[in-house]
Amino acid sequence: MIRFEKIRKEYKQHVVIRDMDLSIHKGELVVLIGPSGCGKTTLLKMVNGLIKPTSGNVFINGENIEEKDVIQLRRNIGYVIQQTGLFPHMTVEENIQIVPKLQKMSAEEIKQRTLEMMEMIGLDAENYLYRYPAQLSGGQQQRIGVARAFATDPDIILMDEPFSALDPITRSQLQEELAELQGHLHKTILFVTHDMDEAVKIADRICIMNDGQVLQYGTPEEVLKNPVDGFVSDFVGRNRIWNNPELIKAQDIMLFDPITTSGERTLLQAIEVMRQSRVDSLFVVNAKHQLKGIITARMIQQAEDRSVTVKEIMKTNYLSVAQTDSIVDLLKLLKENDVSAIPVLGPENVLAGIITTSSLVTTLGARFIDI
Ligand SMILES: Nc1ncnc2c1ncn2[C@@H]1O[C@H](COP(=O)(O)OP(=O)(O)OP(=O)(O)O)[C@@H](O)[C@H]1O
Ligand SMILES: [Mg+2]
Repeated sequence: MIRFEKIRKEYKQHVVIRDMDLSIHKGELVVLIGPSGCGKTTLLKMVNGLIKPTSGNVFINGENIEEKDVIQLRRNIGYVIQQTGLFPHMTVEENIQIVPKLQKMSAEEIKQRTLEMMEMIGLDAENYLYRYPAQLSGGQQQRIGVARAFATDPDIILMDEPFSALDPITRSQLQEELAELQGHLHKTILFVTHDMDEAVKIADRICIMNDGQVLQYGTPEEVLKNPVDGFVSDFVGRNRIWNNPELIKAQDIMLFDPITTSGERTLLQAIEVMRQSRVDSLFVVNAKHQLKGIITARMIQQAEDRSVTVKEIMKTNYLSVAQTDSIVDLLKLLKENDVSAIPVLGPENVLAGIITTSSLVTTLGARFIDI
């Protein structure tokens, strides 16, 4: 949808964007984040032609924007900035209607659209449409800024730190609202922020920049779990994942190679495996390593005949988690059930690993905690 190709921007001798390549898919919300001065705003403004690259090209839907009419280009791009950019001498209604009027939408359509936008941002039309920006709170102004950007139903929305001047509660509300809107509108959104928590909360992908370059571009989960270098890891902060524990998956904290047995073995053999491996239960798997049951030392002790096979007495109704289940799901399961070990299953019930209450502490500590 949007593609930056070898973009370079220089002001005199000063290089602010260094041969950057970046692609944003249709319907994706990408967050640009990085230290002040790294080139985020510059990049954003290249999309709607407010800044021209020194060299390189920007493509929208495969078309080089240099070959497009700037006015046409901007009509299909909403733009929200930090101080909202609302015109102070115009009412809320007039502010929202600027671009629709330029586009010569019919009066009826414009009216309808304005009401829809007010509904979308959760402000009562009757009460707010005729106010001036100065008669609104910061959060309300910001909402109007968002309404204005969405008013012509553009495919692309650029948002440059739109929520940064707001108090944490309003800010968090607007983040929720944006995520919710995006959930059904699927616009292509480029969103600039300084706030990693905000990025993680709303982004499909996060682009971490420094000094005019992309350091890492990936999902919030990838960036939080596998920062590519020291800068990113300092920037992200290793403990940050705890703000989003649902991003920690069973597969990140499981132990590999749980001790297994075939169902065809006798109880006597199974007990011997347990003894050698110092465990008190075994996972019973078939040739494809699919989990079929669990057998514990206690079950074997209670069995009268130890020459029977494991599959005859194994437990087949056991608890398990999927590789992609989160630690939050896992902790719930552990809390509600009195178990000390849980198998982790991949596709088709293939046994991928095991999580025990004691391994939980050590693996979590080693991976996700700065101590
Ligand atoms: N018109 C200009 N002339 C010269 N240098 C400029 C100009 N506009 C921006 N710059 C420089 O380009 C660099 C990138 O600026 P940009 O506004 O893109 O940074 P940013 O990442 O958005 O920073 P912030 O987080 O502070 O908003 C900065 O070093 C800035 O000083
Ligand atoms: Mg900026």
